[in-house]
Amino acid sequence: MRLYLAPLEGITNYIYRRALFQCFDGFDKYFIPFIRAKQNLNFSGREKKDISPENNAGMYTVPQILTRNAEDFLRTASQLQEYGYQEVNLNLGCPSKTVVTKGCGAGFLERPEELERFLDKIFSGTEMKISVKTRLGMEDAKGFSRLMKIYNRFPMEELIIHPRVQKDFYKNTPDLEMFGEALVCSQNPICYNGDIFSPDAFRRIKDRFPEVECFMMGRGVLADPSLALEIKGGKAAEKTDIRKFHDLLYHTYREEVSGDRNVLFKMKELWFYLAPMFEDSKKYAKKIKKSEKCAVYESAVNELFANCRYTGVQKQ
Ligand SMILES: Cc1cc2nc3c(=O)[nH]c(=O)nc-3n(C[C@H](O)[C@H](O)[C@H](O)COP(=O)(O)O)c2cc1C
Repeated sequence: MRLYLAPLEGITNYIYRRALFQCFDGFDKYFIPFIRAKQNLNFSGREKKDISPENNAGMYTVPQILTRNAEDFLRTASQLQEYGYQEVNLNLGCPSKTVVTKGCGAGFLERPEELERFLDKIFSGTEMKISVKTRLGMEDAKGFSRLMKIYNRFPMEELIIHPRVQKDFYKNTPDLEMFGEALVCSQNPICYNGDIFSPDAFRRIKDRFPEVECFMMGRGVLADPSLALEIKGGKAAEKTDIRKFHDLLYHTYREEVSGDRNVLFKMKELWFYLAPMFEDSKKYAKKIKKSEKCAVYESAVNELFANCRYTGVQKQ
């Protein structure tokens, strides 16, 4: 069985991934949030830091590319190869309006003929391993069996399925029926992704689809960074482990990001997922959210850790 960290744009950057790896680990692959493949453009400073081998030492990392232009994909893939990467992932799931209106991410799923031509070009244009991360469609899953026929024509490293449609964003529940149908007809190895928020949730999916060997998790890990370890039979995080992880993350952000506002923006995003794991944490979470200076933030965090019990359980 293999467990993957999902790419979460703006959150699971190299600073987060490194802290997660150092404090908990448990993942077989760490996916890097999407890089937009742009015409004639090199990586931005932020992207360079995110992909640089020193910042990803010890982890098997897979960068993700977002584009509908095969030449841009291939050029970006070959630049990534120069950094030492052997494997890239194609984003066919991003539900954001600005992305789908350009026909990228989940928006590409509505253009099956163009998508097939694109896949033809990228699979014949590089010897790198290519995996694909897909949703079921835009409005509904009616076109997914056609997409599966297309996917079956290409030798993917794996096909990661998040069984929601674009319209769902992250609401509603994953369509397990449709996932099951895809599993039966797929020629490629399948990875399941969606709403694994606890070892129990993992077991439910694994029991229903025992042949699936590979699972990707995102938001569940933000709330419980020891989730992968627990699933693999390891020890669940205790409050002291979470504190250590928090402090490592916070201090690295302070070293690498300039200005209290930017540091706190990152930390507040994380607390959105982390705070509900603590009992009666609302009051302190509000203080964290309102803090504009690091000193205020630190005292709010200290109060939360001092006064709230860490439950380790996510509300679903
Ligand atoms: C804040 C946020 C950012 C995300 N960024 C990406 C991304 O860069 N690439 C991608 O393929 N999916 C992205 N996703 C989707 C996740 O990778 C994942 O498919 C989704 O959250 C479902 O898995 P989960 O229920 O385990 O979180 C993002 C999701 C969220 C909530």
